[in-house]
Parts: sequence; structure tokens; C-alpha cells
Amino acid sequence: MSEGAAKKEEKPRKFQAIRGTRDLLPPDTSLWNRVEQTAHEIFMTFGFGEIRLPIFEQTELFARSIGAETDVVSKEMYTFGEQDLSRLNSIHHALSSRLSEGSYLSIIPWFEAFVREVEFAIKEDHIPQPLPNGVTIEELRKFLASCMDYANRPINELEENEKERQIGLIRAYLQLLETEKLFTLRPEATASVCRAYIEHGMQSLPQPVKLYYMGPMFRRERPQKGRYRQFYQIGAEVLGGSDAPAIDAEVIEMVMMFFDRLELQGVQLDLNSIGCRECRPRYIELLRAELLKVKDKLGPDSQRRIETNPLRVLDSKLESEQRIITTLPRIADHLCEECKAHYAAVKHQLEIRGVIYRENWRLVRGLDYYMRTTFEITAQGLGSQNAVCGGGRYDGLVELLGGPPTKGIGFAIGEDRLILSLQESGKAPAQQGRDVYIAWMGERAHATAIRAAKDLRKAGFSVELPPVEQKFGKALGQADKLGAKYALILGDNEVSEGLWTLKTLADGSQAKYTEPDLLEHLRKSL
Ligand code: HAM
Repeated sequence: MSEGAAKKEEKPRKFQAIRGTRDLLPPDTSLWNRVEQTAHEIFMTFGFGEIRLPIFEQTELFARSIGAETDVVSKEMYTFGEQDLSRLNSIHHALSSRLSEGSYLSIIPWFEAFVREVEFAIKEDHIPQPLPNGVTIEELRKFLASCMDYANRPINELEENEKERQIGLIRAYLQLLETEKLFTLRPEATASVCRAYIEHGMQSLPQPVKLYYMGPMFRRERPQKGRYRQFYQIGAEVLGGSDAPAIDAEVIEMVMMFFDRLELQGVQLDLNSIGCRECRPRYIELLRAELLKVKDKLGPDSQRRIETNPLRVLDSKLESEQRIITTLPRIADHLCEECKAHYAAVKHQLEIRGVIYRENWRLVRGLDYYMRTTFEITAQGLGSQNAVCGGGRYDGLVELLGGPPTKGIGFAIGEDRLILSLQESGKAPAQQGRDVYIAWMGERAHATAIRAAKDLRKAGFSVELPPVEQKFGKALGQADKLGAKYALILGDNEVSEGLWTLKTLADGSQAKYTEPDLLEHLRKSL
């Protein structure tokens, strides 16, 4: 290796934020703070209290509440073990994503690697034996052998049914490992709020319990404008015994008031009811039957969803599917009497509150826990990722997680998108300059400058005090660069006279003040 090459190698590696994550920097962070402060203020006026939740929870909590078939759970979660299960996890992930997208033949080698890794993890005592549900590693090995035997046959001999059965089993084995030993970075916070409601016995508090939260969430999505792998949500949940439509309307009113206070532009509220456990399954069957009739005209994603989750077909943005979708049966026409009445009452309650909405029968949302009211809010300047808020009712979720029968409704705002939209419409604050730059020269002046800085900061002004002496010309240039409004000039003369020179940087004018007068003058003019 040449000397030059060796030198190059020695150069320390440069680190970059991981794809899909980013640093939030000043002056943007002051807008983030303003948004969060406004949320604290508005939510407080509606009687909400802040809840701070852990960043990671048991994987099972999310799998059970959001739903194993959803995109979030099946391919977007960041999961890790208490022990070092990183190798097993990466194989687990590779296998999971192949299960949803890959061909049968590409799945089997990954399953083989998975079984090998499970054996290793058991040997190292990282996971228990037998596996949850009593499955033993011998069983897993036997099943793998039969899959491999199958995979080695000519492709045309692989019957669809057997392939499906094996893939189903692989999926089930995979889920077995998503047990209490596995943790996941939270992809959302509704499940955590319900867990906390149960854990702290909040059903014995005056109902409903109104909670809000803000903070980072994590989803392994393909990053693009407005879509990140670490993103931030501001959300609120109402939990309790009542599903009165006025609760739905008030929650929506609150988020609309929040957007209004922030002067968010182009706000559009879409509303729907997706029915309940009674009427939705009937509608889904009807929808599935209708979709099967037009299966050939649909793209591969929608074709797959006919089986897994036909409602999501309504969500499709694919141009070629739009005409077909408009001909499909609409849920509003198939709601049971209770859901129909609830939906009508929610709309009425919104009207009383002066909240403008648009009914959107295709709004189904991507998480499984919803029932009845669902809503989404879009704003301008966001391109294709234009939903700034999503929410809905999730009665029964607390029960599903082992708690008492409880009604629930809430929303989460995508804070990154909210900020993006505010910035696009010119609502972002400009770079915040300093109020005063202290240009000092000489040891005596330095001592005075330190005291002056302390007094000015105490009075609430932002002050830049250079740590080393500078020539006045350079100091003034520096003050300009920092966007300072004033330069306070402190040299030997000023200190001995007790008269300080204040230069207004915008027009270059200068005046002398005693110390108390200077504070008074700044208070009046800043
Ligand atoms: P969600 O629709 O999955 O709902 O997310 C809510 C909002 O979070 C979205 O409308 C979007 O603004 C933002 N968001 C989601 N994923 C990303 C991403 N990868 N990058 C940037 N922003 C994103 C929920 O999370 C539910 N927990 C809402 C809820 C609360 N429902 C009832 N209570």
C-alpha cells in the first residue's frame, strides 16, 4: 500500500444520520417548539393531560392492537431482543418481508437460515425451549425438511395450496417468536396509551380519561418528502365508558382549532364511518365478492388485498383502478342501524360546532383497531404524503389488550408534515438573531462586559459575548453576521466614563447611555 493510500485509510470515517432519520436544527426548532407549545395550550383548554410513554414496548402489544396483517406490523417495525437477538431479528425481518412479497422459492432458504438461527439462540439460552405454544425445535426442523424436500422438486409440481399452507405455517412460526422477549420501537402510541390506561387502573378515575402525547415514532417505510423512519406525532386519546357522538366531534373540533391557531393552510377534513363488528364483516364479504368479479382489472397489490384486507383496496391510488373503485358498494349504505345513527349524530355534532368536513367513503385507515368514526386531515404543500392527521374510534381495543370494556377515540398529527406545510406557506419564523452583541476591548472592559451580559440576559435579552478580544471592526462584522440588532461597544473610554455606546446596526446610528438608561432604552425598543 502506498503512503498516500495508507494516509487516506487512516482518515476517520464520517458519520451521517441514518436514512429516514434527520437532525432538526435552529431556526426550524423554534417552529417545532411553537407548535408543541400551542398543542399544550389548546389541549389543556379541552381538559387533556399529558402522558409520557416509553419509546419501546413489547412487540406483542403492537402486533395485537394494530393487527398482524397491516403494513406497519408485517413490515415496518423495528424489533429487537433483550438478549442479543440481532442476527435472528435480521433474518426474521428478511423472511417476513419475503413472506409478503417474495416467491416461494426465495422464502425457503431464508426459512432455513431462520431455523438455524433459532437453534443457535436456544443453545445460547437467548430464547426459551420449547418455543411459545409448546413448539419444539425438533418440530421446526422436521417442517423445514419437508419444505426443502418440496422446494427441490420441479417448480410446476408445487401446488398452490401446499405452497400457501407452508407459507402460512412459516408465518405462524415467525409470529411465535414475537413474544414477550421481543421489543419494538413504537410505530404509534395509541396501543401504549391503552396499555397505560389498563396498567394504572385509570378506569377508576372520572371518565372519560383524556390524554395527549408528543414524541418520536418509528416505521421502516421508504423515505421520501414527508415520510421518515423516525417521525414525530402529536396525538390525543379519549378513553372511557361512553361513545357519545359529541365526544367524536369534540376531539375533531380540538384538532381543527389547533390547526386554526397555527394558521395551517388548505386544511381539509375527511370523515367516514367504517361500521362495527356487526355490520363491517358483512360489508367486507360483499366488497370481496364484488372485487372478485373485477379481479383481472386490478393491480397485484389490490388482488392480494381482496383476500387479506379488501377495505384497503378502496385506499388505492393506482390510476387504472380508480374507475372500478367508484363502482364498488359503499359502506354508508351497509351500516347497521346503530352505526348509521352514530354516524349521523357525529355529523350533526360537527355541524353544531361549525366544523367543516367532507364525507369520504373510501377513507378506511391502515390500522386494524378502528371502528365507526374515522377521519383524516390533509393540508397544502405536502405532495403525495399530504395527511397531517389521522384518527378514529377504537371501542374494544382496551378489552383486546386485557382491560375492562372501554370506548376510545383519538388522533395523531404527523408533526413533521405539519411543520413542512407551515414552512411551505411562509409561516416559519426567520432565523432568530441576537438582541445585543457586546464588542469589548481591554481587560477592564471584559469584566464590565461580563457583568453587562449577565444583567441583559437576566432582563431576557439574547446576548452574544465574544470570548476573546476582537478589533472593533471585526466585532461589528461578527455582530452583523449573527443578525444582532445592537452592538454594545465597551472600550477603556466607555468604562472609565460610565457611558456605554450602543450602535443600532440597521442604520449605523450611535448613542451613549448610562447602564440603567441603556437597559431602559432596550426594554422600550426591543
Ligand atoms: P396514522 O395514520 O398511522 O395513525 O398516523 C398519523 C399521522 O402520522 C399520519 O397522518 C401522518 O401525518 C403521520 N405519519 C405516519 N407515518 C409517518 C411517516 N413515516 N413519516 C412522517 N409522518 C408519518 C396513527 O398513528 C394512529 N395511532 C392515530 C390514532 C390515534 N388513532 C386513534 N388515536
